Amino acid sequence: MTVDCVILAAGNGTRMMTTTPKFFQSVAGRPIIRYAIDACSSVMPAKVISVTSVAHKDNELFTGTDVVVQERPLGTADALKQAIPQLGSEYVIVMYADTPFVERKHLEMLLADTADVAFIAARMPDGLLHTPYGRVITDGCKFRKIVEFKDASGDERTCNLMNAGVYKFKTELLKRHIDNVTKDNESAEFYLTELLEIIKESGVAISVIRSDDYLAFHGINTMSDLTAAEEIMQNRLRESFLQKGVRLVAPASVYFSHDTEIAADVVVEPNVFIGTKVKIRTGVVIKAFSYIEGCEIMEHASVGPFARIRGNSRLESATIVGNFVEIKGSVLGKSTKVKHLSYVGDADIGDGTNIGAGTITCNYDGVRKHKTSIGKYVFVGSNSVFIAPVTVEDEALVAAGSVVDQTVQAGSLAIARPQLVIRAGKAKQIWQKKKK
Ligand code: UD1
Ligand code: CA
Repeated sequence: MTVDCVILAAGNGTRMMTTTPKFFQSVAGRPIIRYAIDACSSVMPAKVISVTSVAHKDNELFTGTDVVVQERPLGTADALKQAIPQLGSEYVIVMYADTPFVERKHLEMLLADTADVAFIAARMPDGLLHTPYGRVITDGCKFRKIVEFKDASGDERTCNLMNAGVYKFKTELLKRHIDNVTKDNESAEFYLTELLEIIKESGVAISVIRSDDYLAFHGINTMSDLTAAEEIMQNRLRESFLQKGVRLVAPASVYFSHDTEIAADVVVEPNVFIGTKVKIRTGVVIKAFSYIEGCEIMEHASVGPFARIRGNSRLESATIVGNFVEIKGSVLGKSTKVKHLSYVGDADIGDGTNIGAGTITCNYDGVRKHKTSIGKYVFVGSNSVFIAPVTVEDEALVAAGSVVDQTVQAGSLAIARPQLVIRAGKAKQIWQKKKK
């Protein structure tokens, strides 16, 4: 059996009230559309086709799909129609771009169903009956129609079977009937849901695959829906880390990304944000109020509280990054310490080095970024400044308050400090003068 997948991503998304289309917004750090593309790609289709508007047709978030344009957002059936010339397989799976929890297993449920046309209907709990999903009306087990919430009668709205928005069609049936879809509804749009009724009327049995996992089909139309999606995703991620032996002291206050990797025996204290591309190895402690993205933190390192790590950094094992420290695009060697109030940017620091409080790497000259290279077992006194590009070799000593703008050779002492002048008794004189 061959299959193509179509993702509908051309609507105006007006309910979102934002200029960025909803499917480019992110959930757990990943654009919503990418979840749909991944789900589709996972069932090995001949092709994945994205239907979008002219304005977004070249967006790189559609990478890996064939993009077709829907000139005007005339409805989901009209959007699907634009993909028809591209369809070459026996079956087609259709899904919407705004349902990030749809996964391979759901699409496989459709493919495993023997009917020519099948779709998923999820049972909603009573508390969700006000949500404006399309309702699936059946006669016993048999499909009758899908009615959009706007068009539904009071009785139909109490039906708890929602249209999940994931369909499988025999391509030939889709082609034969799609032009018969009308605009006879509240929104005056061509509804894909009407196509199912039309196909049923032609005598084809339609399979309604029921699911109790309604959260898997959460659709994002409004900012509140997006917030709810984030919460669902974060809860899943939190639970998965707890199950792997990660100690989350206050799980609800910690945010992860879809690609976060954390080993067992890591402790994450409250109020930590973990952005994309983060790998945390075993025994690491991330202390409260830290913001971490784009980095690999090796075994038994300690980060925070109030630390910021970013820009493809790597902290080797047993490093300590303390409070009010920012590390960007840097490597910190084993057991190296940057414990207080520092900025380390574009630096390469060897093992066992101590960076004193208030150290700054001046990595930017206003035009370009430059590297600071500090060797092993170097001691950098507090409030030192490195004017990059600059190198400090192994076992050197940089005296507190130094501005370092040239190579410090291995084992050397660098000291650059204005001379301290002490004038005996002068302070006393000044105080007396002030008091007069
Ligand atoms: C749709 C279903 C509804 C279902 C719900 C599940 C229809 C008519 N209704 O409603 O039964 O319960 O999804 O989440 O299909 N789009 C286009 N072109 C258009 C209009 C929409 O590409 O002209 C795209 C949108 O970008 C979106 C998807 O199709 O990704 C669904 O459209 P949306 O307006 O979100 O439909 P819902 O009202 O949520
Ligand atoms: Ca929707």
